[in-house]
Amino acid sequence: MEFKEELKNYVSIVNSELEKNLKSKDCPEGILNESMEYSLMAGGKRIRPILILATYKLFKDNYSVCFPYAVSMEMIHNFSLIHDDLPGIDNDDFRHGKPTNHKKFNEATAILAGDALLNNGYMIISDALNKCTDEKMQALQLKAFHEFSYAVDRMIAGEYVDTEYEGKEISNQYLEYMHANKTGALLKASVRIGAILGEANNEEIDKLTKFAEKIGLTFQIKDDILSEIGDEKILGKPTGNDKERGKCTYVSKYGLDGAKEMLENLTNEAVNIMDEYGKKGEFLKQLALYIANREK
Ligand code: IPE
Ligand code: IPE
Ligand code: MG
Ligand code: MG
Repeated sequence: MEFKEELKNYVSIVNSELEKNLKSKDCPEGILNESMEYSLMAGGKRIRPILILATYKLFKDNYSVCFPYAVSMEMIHNFSLIHDDLPGIDNDDFRHGKPTNHKKFNEATAILAGDALLNNGYMIISDALNKCTDEKMQALQLKAFHEFSYAVDRMIAGEYVDTEYEGKEISNQYLEYMHANKTGALLKASVRIGAILGEANNEEIDKLTKFAEKIGLTFQIKDDILSEIGDEKILGKPTGNDKERGKCTYVSKYGLDGAKEMLENLTNEAVNIMDEYGKKGEFLKQLALYIANREK
């Protein structure tokens, strides 16, 4: 199957799993549930859940065991985006070509929609764990859950560093730390969770972790580049906002050409790791290239 077609297939699988977990609007907190759905179903690329499923597929075929993690990861990601756009953080008005959650609803609703998506992610994983009767599978799921909860902690830490250093000088190390955490952590955990559930051995998990760390960084470097030179209409979110807020980015630190060079080098390194998997690794290899070349 061609990469684009396979990607589209994955997106529809993830979307249909997300739909199964939407909440009723027919209750006193109906608008809160509507606001969660508004962001969750707004048209995200679904990269994190896709990484879980595609990494699992390196080892095993039937990826339905990954669904609770795929759905939860996308919920946590959307929680992070809703809060990231709030006036107290990035103060952005548009995402996915639509008003941001607090603009469409209001700040209180957006804060609580983020909180609710965060907790719903945990509820879905705990439900899966609770239902699992196979001892071996339960042990793997516990390991995946551990991975998940630590990644959420790292993402929040990275977001904090991002806000803390707004308008300030940042060292190369801290900038890498910020990117590796705020964006890299969920991407890395997605790959590791897919590998863990697929019963990869430690050596495989280590190798895939290196791949994931590289694409975790390239993902945010590309986001920085797109904020500088992307097309707002394609991106669906504002450009020029990083500069406006004095954000520390790979572009502000290394210049546009410097950021592009780092993006290319890290992408090549990720591709080289995936080459070791031959035909089986083709989709993830193409995904690493897609992350680097995407326009949104
Ligand atoms: C945007 O993430 C925020 C970052 C972590 C860079 P994505 O670009 O994956 O967001 P969507 O879900 O596809 O819109
Ligand atoms: C978002 O980073 C990272 C998280 C939400 C954890 P950015 O602020 O750089 O991403 P965009 O550009 O708003 O999507
Ligand atoms: Mg931000
Ligand atoms: Mg932002």
